[in-house]
Amino acid sequence: MSKPKVLVTRAWPREVEAELQKHYDVTLNATDVPMSVTQLQDALRQYDAVCPTVSDKINAEVLGAQPLRAKILGNFGVGFNHIDLEAAKARGLTVTNTPEVLTDCTADLAMTLLLMAARRAGEGERHVRTRAWTGWRPTHMISTRVTGKTLGLIGMGRIARAAAQRAHHGFSMKIIYFDPFPPPPEAIKDLNATQCASIEDVLTRADFVSLHCPGGKENYHLINAERLKVMKPGAILINTARGDVVDEKALIAALKKGTITAAGLDVYEGEPKVNEEYLTMENVVLLPHLGSATRETRVAMGMRVFENLQLFFAGKPVRDKVV
Ligand code: DGY
Repeated sequence: MSKPKVLVTRAWPREVEAELQKHYDVTLNATDVPMSVTQLQDALRQYDAVCPTVSDKINAEVLGAQPLRAKILGNFGVGFNHIDLEAAKARGLTVTNTPEVLTDCTADLAMTLLLMAARRAGEGERHVRTRAWTGWRPTHMISTRVTGKTLGLIGMGRIARAAAQRAHHGFSMKIIYFDPFPPPPEAIKDLNATQCASIEDVLTRADFVSLHCPGGKENYHLINAERLKVMKPGAILINTARGDVVDEKALIAALKKGTITAAGLDVYEGEPKVNEEYLTMENVVLLPHLGSATRETRVAMGMRVFENLQLFFAGKPVRDKVV
């Protein structure tokens, strides 16, 4: 029997690509150039499985490809707001993602941003690199203490809980959260976390707010001008979720006016484009969507896609079914 044909849209860790090559008739993307709408449509016409990632827009136009050969989209990434799930479902496609394996590294990165934004680490590094530093002094680059402060989490899924672990046990932070689908008590039992009644409740009480909700329509501009206004003036906003959860213009205005003190961002509306205004501001830390970008995690994500494909082509239920 011939092997299923699999297309991988971007370059993956070498060991995962090698594993795929052992089992499938695979087309890789050695140049790592993003695929166009037409190329993605062709892939859906020519391959049994297409493996996109979070930067591929798999919208209704792409999914409208005729005739459709693909049966599964094995997404490399936990988020799936870049895939039109309704359209995928309507075409009879199975969609899988890669949960769990990126939890720790993404939580680590949320803490990196929190610490960098609080302690002005990006700004301090620029200060040294530009040879502007004239020496230690009692009032130089005064920043915000982290230890013992209140961390507010919007969304209390796996990554939020892992960030809370680090903040609570590593930095003695008080944890408060809002999630419309709160976790079971046993999942948060060692966090001494307080469930808030609303997003506003979190925003008014937290010194740091970290976003951990899905992107897409349901949370579009969840953090807007009104909500930024209710945050503490000394507060710091961290976003490792999705760019469109925050109204970027409102955040820039709030950071400029001092409505809040600082922000740490790993994700952007319309990334990889980053609003030019951010680039001129010292009170925002900017990272290029690095949440899961460790060697170990990226290999584990790829292996998770591989596992989903193996199950699917063996006619078994996939492990990480989205639709
Ligand atoms: C995801 O997996 O959705 C992240 O944003 C990239 O690791």
